[in-house]
Amino acid sequence: MKKNKTIKSVKNKSEDFDSVQMTPLSGEILKLLEQQMAEEYKEALFYLQQTVYFERVGLTGFSKWCKNHYTEELSHATAIMNYLLARGVNARISNVIVIDKTFHDAGSIFEAMLALEVSSTGTINNIHRKSLALNDHETLSFVQTLIKKQIDEEYLLAKLVKRIRFVKQDPTALLNIDQELEASTINEGVISANYRVLNSSAKAVGVFGSSALSYVGASNDL
Ligand SMILES: [Fe+2]
Ligand SMILES: [Fe+2]
Repeated sequence: MKKNKTIKSVKNKSEDFDSVQMTPLSGEILKLLEQQMAEEYKEALFYLQQTVYFERVGLTGFSKWCKNHYTEELSHATAIMNYLLARGVNARISNVIVIDKTFHDAGSIFEAMLALEVSSTGTINNIHRKSLALNDHETLSFVQTLIKKQIDEEYLLAKLVKRIRFVKQDPTALLNIDQELEASTINEGVISANYRVLNSSAKAVGVFGSSALSYVGASNDL
């Protein structure tokens, strides 16, 4: 009897340590954000996998672009994890899918990448809709940074898809695009540049209100 009392007392202390009072995050939103994290890892792995084809055929500019995008997608997943940590929830990384499909030309690869980004925009928009429905203003604010990034990514990929379609299989023209990607002159569009202005002001605000986890900073660096 006495022994049980001691155990109960220790357990309560542990619960007190974990349960600090914070604005709660709904289970539905947590699940959607965890799924989005898995989605970002799926995209990251897909971009990385495509470097194999481009390295094999000597299109190192395309390969470099894919590697850059791989790290960018990883940063999206990290931003989501940091956001969940900042909200004080126990997040889990799970259900990461590897797309097992081999492509044999730049056009097919970039068409697939664009389709992946469109799908990702859809799932992010779904989190936005759910946050609106649940009056979760914190998640709304966070997800809007991801949505802005999706506009940018779709624009960039659509531009590359159109250019690759335009040159068809002309090796000389494809090599020109490869050189542009090598020099990264095609990586940034007008939309991207506009966001950078917004991001600078967000960072300036962050100086005065920095958080240990800096999830806002992380997302602005997406
Ligand atoms: Fe992403
Ligand atoms: Fe993306």
